[in-house]
Amino acid sequence: MKDKFYITTAIAYTSGKPHIGNTYEAILADSVARFKRYEGYDVFFQTGTDEHGQKIEEKAAAANLTPKAFVDGVAEEIKRIWDLVGVSYDKFIRTTDDYHEKQVQKIFKKLYEQGDIYKGSYEGWYCTPCESFWTESQLVDGKCPDCGREVKKSQEEAYFFKMSKYADQLMQYYNDHPEFILPISRKNEMVNNFLKPGLQDLCVSRSSFKWGIPVDFDSKHVVYVWLDALTNYITGVGYDADGNSTEQYNKLWPADVHIIGKDIIRFHTIYWPIFLMALGVPLPKKVYGHGWLLQDGGKMSKSKGNVMYADDLVEYFGKDAVRYYVLTAMPQDNDGLISWEGVIDTINSDLANVYGNLVSRTIAMSNKYFGGIVEDAKVNKTVDDELKAVVTAARDKIKAKMDEYRIADAIAEVISVFRRANKYIDETMPWALAKDESKKDRLKTVLYNLTEAIIIGSSLLTPFMPDTCKKVADMIGAPLREYDDANKFGLIDSIKVTETPEILFARLDSVKVMEKVNAMIEERREKIEDKKDEKKDEKKPEVKLHDHSKKEPIDIDDFGKVELKIAKVIACEKVEKSKKLLKLTVKVGEETRTVVSGIALYYTPEELVGKKLAMITNLKPCKLCGIVSEGMIVCAEDENGNIAYLTPEKDIADGSMIF
Ligand code: MSP
Repeated sequence: MKDKFYITTAIAYTSGKPHIGNTYEAILADSVARFKRYEGYDVFFQTGTDEHGQKIEEKAAAANLTPKAFVDGVAEEIKRIWDLVGVSYDKFIRTTDDYHEKQVQKIFKKLYEQGDIYKGSYEGWYCTPCESFWTESQLVDGKCPDCGREVKKSQEEAYFFKMSKYADQLMQYYNDHPEFILPISRKNEMVNNFLKPGLQDLCVSRSSFKWGIPVDFDSKHVVYVWLDALTNYITGVGYDADGNSTEQYNKLWPADVHIIGKDIIRFHTIYWPIFLMALGVPLPKKVYGHGWLLQDGGKMSKSKGNVMYADDLVEYFGKDAVRYYVLTAMPQDNDGLISWEGVIDTINSDLANVYGNLVSRTIAMSNKYFGGIVEDAKVNKTVDDELKAVVTAARDKIKAKMDEYRIADAIAEVISVFRRANKYIDETMPWALAKDESKKDRLKTVLYNLTEAIIIGSSLLTPFMPDTCKKVADMIGAPLREYDDANKFGLIDSIKVTETPEILFARLDSVKVMEKVNAMIEERREKIEDKKDEKKDEKKPEVKLHDHSKKEPIDIDDFGKVELKIAKVIACEKVEKSKKLLKLTVKVGEETRTVVSGIALYYTPEELVGKKLAMITNLKPCKLCGIVSEGMIVCAEDENGNIAYLTPEKDIADGSMIF
């Protein structure tokens, strides 16, 4: 009986179409699942979508859809992309699935009834227009850090989970299972940054929005999205909080590995194990936190139109090349950098020059010299032994790397088999052997050895590039090698290769491909701009930001105290955690300053970069959302709350005085 292997990905948010970074994770988990199947494990691979929460509720409202209609659309899109890149999942769970929602409610109730969850209140400072709670330390000068208005001390009822109760037990688990968190550096981070300083009770319900799983015994509240999402790993395989879990659950749980990104390790190695401990459920065996794929040469941004999506990449380069590229672009302990040029280079160097070239040359020579027949004439030389040693050692080396989740290193081992085989062609010079009738049998053996190397290498590469490897085996006319035999040389009998081999990977002309890619990016950017213009026409702010009442008269000297200058915006970005604030970097003559301005609802960062604006330059610096603001951008505001920045009537140097 084969051992089971239950592997999961994080479930993707359905807030929008996933970019290549999210898709990478599905490809990574897929390659592990396929390798395990190849090894002979009875694999169950679960992936899916995380569909609740305020952000999704807001996205749906912005799209004029009900949350359910909105997530139905995005979940379909995510499934389509996973299928497109060949993710061989056994189960695709959605957190809006009925069975999942029911179990989350039961789990919440069980934890409440046994006293791990209690009803308390969330105390803080409330800003009514922003609908936001703030803690004392988040306030700026006692006011809302987002909009600067007065805040009220408020309390909101909420449910809390007693995290600290399980902290020692969790630390013990970490100590007893040194392999639980991989890479090890991530474990140290969890221990030092979270466990050692002490765990706070976690707020596990929300009542400020509706799009979530209702707490069934207190319907004002919905379950905190992470408690909902994390439980997918057990509900998806049949866990039942009342003790009637399915046979499948009993077989599969605990999971063998959760594959997740580095940003959500805390949720998977602290909250999730503690929820499971409270439920009396065994903990997963391993959490592997991979790095992130980042775009080389600048941030991926929707408004720039340069976000890399799997479907574009597949359209340009094909599914397997994209899988190969992203898997090899990610080192184990760090982030990986990707770019369109990078895909082209990798395809040309590894796939066209090394793998494709080896296959096409070998098939062409078998056709040319032996009418396509490949068989071993057993005329061996010592140079063969070196090739055979590399080929037969590959399987175990790859397995060792895969066991450590060093996917890029495992793939590099396969490529080194193909590189070695190409070198073998140079060493044996089949074209020279062909000229000498007495060396025909030696030539037969050389081509046989090359064909064996291709079949074994392709078998080992199958988990990463399934379709290509199958195609190669079909062209060669020999089956891919089973795992148990993938370390044995010389198993091919007499075979006949195809007369009409296909080019596996055509060499790409970087300039031509990039022209097309850039045209696509430009077209996208324009479309996004058009949409923004349409939206801007519709945009009507609900509140005025400033006091419009008549002010007392002042002296010219009072006005003279205000220093106003022209500032040029050289960079601009949204302030994280704030809907209203933008962080601008401005040049004022010789000086560069940072200014935080509450105009994010009116202007996008891209609209402001390059603009010259009026700015008060002698206001005392103040902190907004933790950023020191060194000035104030001056805007006009009408009775309806419409905002317009002020810009000089003709071009004038930044730093110019306004008087
Ligand atoms: N919904 C949560 C996960 C809940 S799991 C119980 C979530 N979703 S996500 O859509 O934001 O991210 C899904 C996965 O993609 C996460 O593991 C995340 O780390 C990963 N990635 C997001 N951006 C990525 C890259 N740029 N590169 C690699 N992985 C990336 O988090």
